[in-house]
Amino acid sequence: MKKESFVSVADLTKEDINRLMEKAAFFETNPNRKLLENRVCATLFFEPSTRTRLSFETAVNRLGGRVIGFSDAATTSSSKGETLKDTIKMVSNYADLIIMRPYLEGAARYASEVTDVPVINAGDGANQHPSQTMLDVYSIYKTQGSLENLTIAMVGDLKYGRTVHSLIVGMSHFNPKFYFIAPDELKLPDIYKQFLEEKAIPYREFSDFSEDVINQSDILYMTRVQRERFTDLMEYEKVKNIYILKNSMLDKSKDNLRILHPLPRVNEIAYDVDDNPKAYYFEQAKNGVFARQAIICNVLGIKSDD
Ligand code: CP
Repeated sequence: MKKESFVSVADLTKEDINRLMEKAAFFETNPNRKLLENRVCATLFFEPSTRTRLSFETAVNRLGGRVIGFSDAATTSSSKGETLKDTIKMVSNYADLIIMRPYLEGAARYASEVTDVPVINAGDGANQHPSQTMLDVYSIYKTQGSLENLTIAMVGDLKYGRTVHSLIVGMSHFNPKFYFIAPDELKLPDIYKQFLEEKAIPYREFSDFSEDVINQSDILYMTRVQRERFTDLMEYEKVKNIYILKNSMLDKSKDNLRILHPLPRVNEIAYDVDDNPKAYYFEQAKNGVFARQAIICNVLGIKSDD
């Protein structure tokens, strides 16, 4: 079995992303191919999740595999002091694949280095969320018909938002233009701006969430302010309601504009937006099953026509 972990979007080429999207499209029309019979997949979620864990588990179940794991680290021996290395080595005795959401940035990469079992990063701290990126790019492709030459506005918590960090890297292959809308406290980290500058990808930063920016965009990527990453909750209180997208703000937006959000939503998208045909976030989450089926088969070296 070829071992190929999936821990960072930075490890993917443009061709890798296109191939995974093709596989995701295959699974969208063939969701129940029994390609994982006799395989056991472990889902180790040290941090809370609804969509990522359940869509990974749905992906495995639809592919005919079996799932073991936990969604609350307090019920595991890590709460007794077992190290991540030991936990990963133990789970590697039981499972053919490890899907993990650790608290610590870089922990998925570390895990992939201490086991021969493939590891999929289901979000490591504020660092990366590469499987979310695959469902995001698949959603962008489905709604725009292409990934090339798009204007993408990212709004909200660009400092801690790992989905934003991964998506910037993923879309960097497709000649994008970015607008970053964030308060000073939650601006995009310099490392991502340097990355864009090195690749000569244009971006602009704003602190106002204006209709001017919305009206020029093809994708409006809303994000939640990540309460769990703040060490001082008074700081969170200051910014938690900083931007709220209301339906009236979309009146002059482009016909092809689609609103994405990795979810969960707190209050950054008003409920009146949900019925707007440009709201795509619930379909986006559904695309997660197909994108994750593609990723799982890829890391296990299983061709979809096997
Ligand atoms: N988008 C996302 O990661 O959602 P969950 O935290 O519910 O998995």
